[in-house]
Amino acid sequence: MRLSLWNRIPTGATRCTMMARMSRSGYASLWRAVIRKPRVTLFVSGILSAVGCAAVPAAAFAANNPYWNPGPPWAPLVPKSGEMLEISDLFWIVLVLSAIIFLFVAVFMIHNITRYTGKDGDPDPPQVFGNQRVELLWTLIPVVVLLGAFIATVKAIHDINTPEKGPSLDIRAIGHQWWWEFQYPKYAIDTAGEVHVPAGYNIHFHVESNDVIHSFWTPQLQRQIDANPAEDNAVFVKLDQPGIYSGMCYEYCGAGHSWMKYRLVVQPYNQFIKWVHQQEQPAAKPATSLQARGKSIFTSSTCINCHAITGVSGGAVGPNLTHLASRWAIGAGAAPMNAAAIAQWVQNPYQFKQGVLMPAYPLFSKQDLNALAAYLMSLK
Ligand code: CUA
Repeated sequence: MRLSLWNRIPTGATRCTMMARMSRSGYASLWRAVIRKPRVTLFVSGILSAVGCAAVPAAAFAANNPYWNPGPPWAPLVPKSGEMLEISDLFWIVLVLSAIIFLFVAVFMIHNITRYTGKDGDPDPPQVFGNQRVELLWTLIPVVVLLGAFIATVKAIHDINTPEKGPSLDIRAIGHQWWWEFQYPKYAIDTAGEVHVPAGYNIHFHVESNDVIHSFWTPQLQRQIDANPAEDNAVFVKLDQPGIYSGMCYEYCGAGHSWMKYRLVVQPYNQFIKWVHQQEQPAAKPATSLQARGKSIFTSSTCINCHAITGVSGGAVGPNLTHLASRWAIGAGAAPMNAAAIAQWVQNPYQFKQGVLMPAYPLFSKQDLNALAAYLMSLK
């Protein structure tokens, strides 16, 4: 709109005159209003900033997919692990300290401005040069405050980077564009988008990346940490409360970044072991003719180049599908786990997830897609 209007304006001198007229009428009068009413401007811009600051996270919260529950934007302030409690405690200490200092400075400043502003004709105020006691005070107070914050921070960093005593479990969390792979070195498990951990265990996440830099974070449970290629970054966390927690990639890593989510499921130990046994099973055999047809479509298409199904195919580019249907979602949270969504995903994954590296398969017939979806949904 602006471009086409601009193109309609004649070139050369006429354009310059028009520009000058525009700035005189528009920007100049706005600027005059700002100069004339600085208090109104300050008030209005303050209100607008406050509304903006509140509206952006609120809109992001409201616009979320109904089956994906990331928790409220303030999730890190509702900690569900000792590690996250320590981080949020530190946040509150620093926030309250900063608020006290801010209030003190603001009140002191407003008092001085209103009390000591001179009027026309007032005599010059007495000239003071230096005050050792005051200067010492305003050097020592920040030193003490910053030293306190520094010590509390170092203590928190040390605590959350030290594994607690007790049983432990290692899990590799590998970032891919754009999904998380989870491997359990102790068990023969390679899964995606969903990680299960036993309650009461010290979990040692080995955070790595397969391509670019990602960031691994479950806001209510653990510190944020970068996933770098060829690096093993450690996160220790002990989770006592069973529950389902949401996490995602927190570092922009390309077009599919916003759909790089995962679910972290904390379970009592016996339930966790049940999940482990189920995940260690070989892939389910087709039980109906529709599923058998779906399997033959899978094995005769390029699906096998990227996806592994134990005993069926060995691709290692995309997520392992051996127990696909046991997970909460497809596309790292971009679409729900059901046959209709799988069929639509195979036909055109871009409709769910921008930039996804899996190609679309528009040439599969409706029957083929249904058979493929029926087979994949049988992989519990
Ligand atoms: Cu991976 Cu953002």
